[in-house]
Amino acid sequence: MVPISSRMKTKVPYTVPKLKDFSPAALDEAVRTLLAAVVREAGAVTSESEWKVFRDRWMARTNGFLSQVNTLWLKAAPKDAKRDVGQRVNEVKKRVDETIAAALERMQGMTSTSRLNAEHLDVTLPGIKRPLGAEHPVIKTMNEMVGVFRNLGYSVEEGPEIETDYYNFEALNFPPNHPARDTQDTLFIAHQESKPLRERLLLRTHTSPVQIRTMEKMKPPVRVVCPGKVHRNDALDATHSPIFHQIEGLAVDTNITFCDLKGTLDHAMKAMFGSSVRTRFYPSFFPFTEPSADVQISCIFCGGRGYRDGGPCRNCKASGWIELLGCGMVDPNVYGFVDYDAKRVSGFAFGMGVERIAILKYGVDDIQLFFNGDVRFLQQFG
Ligand code: PHE
Repeated sequence: MVPISSRMKTKVPYTVPKLKDFSPAALDEAVRTLLAAVVREAGAVTSESEWKVFRDRWMARTNGFLSQVNTLWLKAAPKDAKRDVGQRVNEVKKRVDETIAAALERMQGMTSTSRLNAEHLDVTLPGIKRPLGAEHPVIKTMNEMVGVFRNLGYSVEEGPEIETDYYNFEALNFPPNHPARDTQDTLFIAHQESKPLRERLLLRTHTSPVQIRTMEKMKPPVRVVCPGKVHRNDALDATHSPIFHQIEGLAVDTNITFCDLKGTLDHAMKAMFGSSVRTRFYPSFFPFTEPSADVQISCIFCGGRGYRDGGPCRNCKASGWIELLGCGMVDPNVYGFVDYDAKRVSGFAFGMGVERIAILKYGVDDIQLFFNGDVRFLQQFG
C-alpha cells in the first residue's frame, strides 16, 4: 500500500522545515525544496490579486516563509554553521525575491495583453452603417401642403386634439342637437354628463376648431393653415381610419371673395399634383361656411378623361373627377362667436384630409398601410 504522505506529496502545500542537520548537503536539499516550491507557486498565479496572496505568504514580516527561514534556519543554526547558513539564506532571499518580482511582471504583462486584445480596434474596418430613417408619407404630404401655403404667406397654427364641444361644434355654428352633428361620428370622453354641454370633452373630429382658436387670439387680417390629427368613430377599411390627419386653412380680411378661395385652392392643387390638374367647385354644406363647396380635381390617373387603358377609370369611377376637400366662405354667424365684425370682414376656409392626398399622390391602395408600421412600406418613401 502507498503511504498517504507520498500519495499526497504534490498536493501538500509547502511549509518551511525545521533543520536538525545543518550540513551543506542537508542545506542544499532544504534550499532546493524551497526554491522548487516558490517557482511552482509563482507559476500557478493567474491574477494580480492571487499574486498578492502569494507574495504575502512568502514575504510577510511576521510569519512569511522568509521570516520563518530566518528563525528556523539561521537563528537555530549552531554557531559554527551560522556563516554558511547565513550565506545560503541570503541566496534564498534573493532568489525568492526575483521569482516573486518576475511573477508580478508576468501578471501585468498578461493584464495589459488581455486588455489590448479586448480593446483592439481595427480602424481600417468599414463603420457600422445605421439605416437612414424616412419621413412618414403622411407627415411628408402634410409638410408639402403646408409649404405651399407658407409660400402664399400663411402662417401655421395648431390646436389640441382633445377639444371641447364648444370649439368642435357650437362656435362653428353646429347648435346643440343640430342634425349636422351626426355627420361627424364623434368620439366623446365618457362620464361628463354633469358638465354643461359646451365644456364636455371629445376627440376633435376636424381641424376646424383651430379656426375659432385662431380668431379668438388674432384680429384680421388672418391667413393660417392648421395641420393636425383628428378622430372619427369610423370602422377601419381600405379608405377609412378612425385616426387621420387634416389641414385646415383660414383667410379673413376685408373684401375676400369666393374668387380668392377658388384661385387659392386651384393653385394649391396644381402645386401638389402638377400644373395640368384642373379643379371644380361643387355645391355642398357645412354649418360654418356659406356658401359651401366640395372641391374636385381632374382625375390624375386618367387625366380627367374618365377612361384609361381602353376601359373605365377605376380611380374616378369613370367620372374624370376626384373629390378632395371641403371649403366655403366663413359663415357670418361664426364671426359672432369670436368678436369679429361680420359687416366689415369676410373670409374663406377649407379643410382637407392628408391621407387622402397621400393615397392619390403615391398610389397607395389601403389607408391602413400608413398606420401599421410595416417598414417595407415606409422604406419606399426614403
Ligand atoms: N371641417 C370640415 C370637415 O372635416 C371640412 C371643412 C373645413 C369644410 C373648412 C369647410 C371649411 O368635414
